[in-house]
Amino acid sequence: MRRTHYAGSLREAHAGEEVVLEGWVNRRRDLGGLIFLDLRDREGLVQLVAHPESPAYREAERVRSEWVVRAQGVVRLRPEPNPRLATGRVEVELKALEVLAEAKTPPFPVDAGWRGEEEKEAAEELRLKYRYLDLRRKRMQDHLRLRHRVVKAIWDFLDREGFIQVETPFLTKSTPEGARDFLVPYRQEPGLFYALPQSPQLFKQMLMVAGLDRYFQIARCFRDEDLRADRQPDFTQMDLEMSFVEVEDILELNERLMAHVFREALGVELSLPLPRLPYGEALERFGSDKPDLRFGLEMVEVGLLFKESGFALFQEAERVKALRVPKALSRKEIALLEEEARRKGAGGLAWARVEEGGLAGGVARHLEPVREALLKATEAEAGDTLLFVAGPLRVAAEAMGAVRLLLADLLGLKREGFRFLWVVDFPLLEWDGERGGWTYMHHPFTSPHPEDLPLLETDPGRVRALAYDLVLNGVEVGGGSIRIHDPGLQARMFRLLGIGEEEQREKFGFFLEALSYGAPPHGGIAWGLDRLLALMTGSPSIREVIAFPKNKEGKDPLTGAPSSIPEGQLAELGLKVIRRG
Ligand code: AMO
Repeated sequence: MRRTHYAGSLREAHAGEEVVLEGWVNRRRDLGGLIFLDLRDREGLVQLVAHPESPAYREAERVRSEWVVRAQGVVRLRPEPNPRLATGRVEVELKALEVLAEAKTPPFPVDAGWRGEEEKEAAEELRLKYRYLDLRRKRMQDHLRLRHRVVKAIWDFLDREGFIQVETPFLTKSTPEGARDFLVPYRQEPGLFYALPQSPQLFKQMLMVAGLDRYFQIARCFRDEDLRADRQPDFTQMDLEMSFVEVEDILELNERLMAHVFREALGVELSLPLPRLPYGEALERFGSDKPDLRFGLEMVEVGLLFKESGFALFQEAERVKALRVPKALSRKEIALLEEEARRKGAGGLAWARVEEGGLAGGVARHLEPVREALLKATEAEAGDTLLFVAGPLRVAAEAMGAVRLLLADLLGLKREGFRFLWVVDFPLLEWDGERGGWTYMHHPFTSPHPEDLPLLETDPGRVRALAYDLVLNGVEVGGGSIRIHDPGLQARMFRLLGIGEEEQREKFGFFLEALSYGAPPHGGIAWGLDRLLALMTGSPSIREVIAFPKNKEGKDPLTGAPSSIPEGQLAELGLKVIRRG
């Protein structure tokens, strides 16, 4: 006897047909006389009915939730349809029921979503320990299936556009993307290690040197870094690279790809082209290099107004960022926002209320001399609150940016939907105060803006990069750049980053050599596929869209990884464990 249908696929048109179904018992109800079983498979559930005179009745009495069964019966129209189920107009009158596997009671319920009811969330640690049960839940299966559709849409689109999929190695040499490497010992020669790739960056560039012209890969990347809701130690990128292109070509292709993905996977139309914002403007207006455009609350620079004001705090600051809040905030709300500003390094959060007659509360007294100009610049009206952070650009803007985000939550301003934008014209370098040197913003292979090349050694901080980030609802979902294809410029870049000749040779010699054999101008991008899916599904963490993720400590409660290894295996690898005190 073989399965004839998926349980979830039965409809009115099947009435009268004899079917064989296989799956899990979602729920069993004994109505004293009749036994109802909801049989579930990946397509949904259907109600089975066992009459006392049926040979299936004895087995139906015995089965419990999550047992695996094979059911044979006839599809009938239901006297009382259940409008919540796609199969709600039919049921299957059982002729035979066979238990294929018994099951322990699951540590948390998995059935509710399949019945069209809200799923109650179990503790995440428990969900991860029994991930195979967690993945039985409807929502999790929806996520995995959406992920499949997204990846398929990417494959279809890029294949049509002439991209060639290439797998690049996992056991390799370090590719710097700003994190620590995961290392794998080389048994044949103790002391040697492979690194797992932080991204396929160098390989995809070498594929351009090889002449592939257009490459892509759904690539697994490995990064040993502090974990957050949107980070995993191993995660997936949609990685691509193109030759003989400029920034515009890459953005245009990616926009069409994203629109295709949203149309195919979600039935959502994106409006193209996506907006573009230079990094400097994003910082000044939104206090972030990944602004959330689902709400307004743009900040205004008012520093110039205070140059003669006598209010030392504002007069002497590099920047004074003002934010107009369309509400008379309470002291408690202001205290909460100030805490956020301080957490981001600001000295404090100044405020004043706008009233019919003028400004009141907070620093109102100090604002009097510039009141009119201030109200004009911020477009504030009676009933509003004005907030201010003064300080160096990065600090003031980013602190106010964090205040802006918190306010959007407090005031419920975030609109539904998907608000994409490109952030472009990133600085090439940033100053690393701890190390006392310049460090790359994106990665060391990013091309400087050709117009800024003369500044490379004289004023490195002002050099723009041919780099761009793709931002969705305040999350960086992708990043890329035009690369350096001239080995001389690449070596100059390494020097600027304080990577000496020997280190260059040791770490990147093979790559510099590859560039010297005729590298085409090229560039590309990588999307954080997990992040994109988390946003597409409205999930609070990327763990919700990964089948088997690690927990917040980077551990896997299911398998127990990472785990210790036997002494013998250590010895074989020439390794000795030094325990931390
Ligand atoms: P980047 O380091 O910006 O660029 O990574 C690209 C995108 O990958 C996602 N991402 C992550 N997602 C989950 N967990 C992580 N730990 C994690 N780290 C990054 C982000 C990010 O935007 N080789 C370059 C790309 C290029 O230049 O073509 C790169 O890896 O969404």
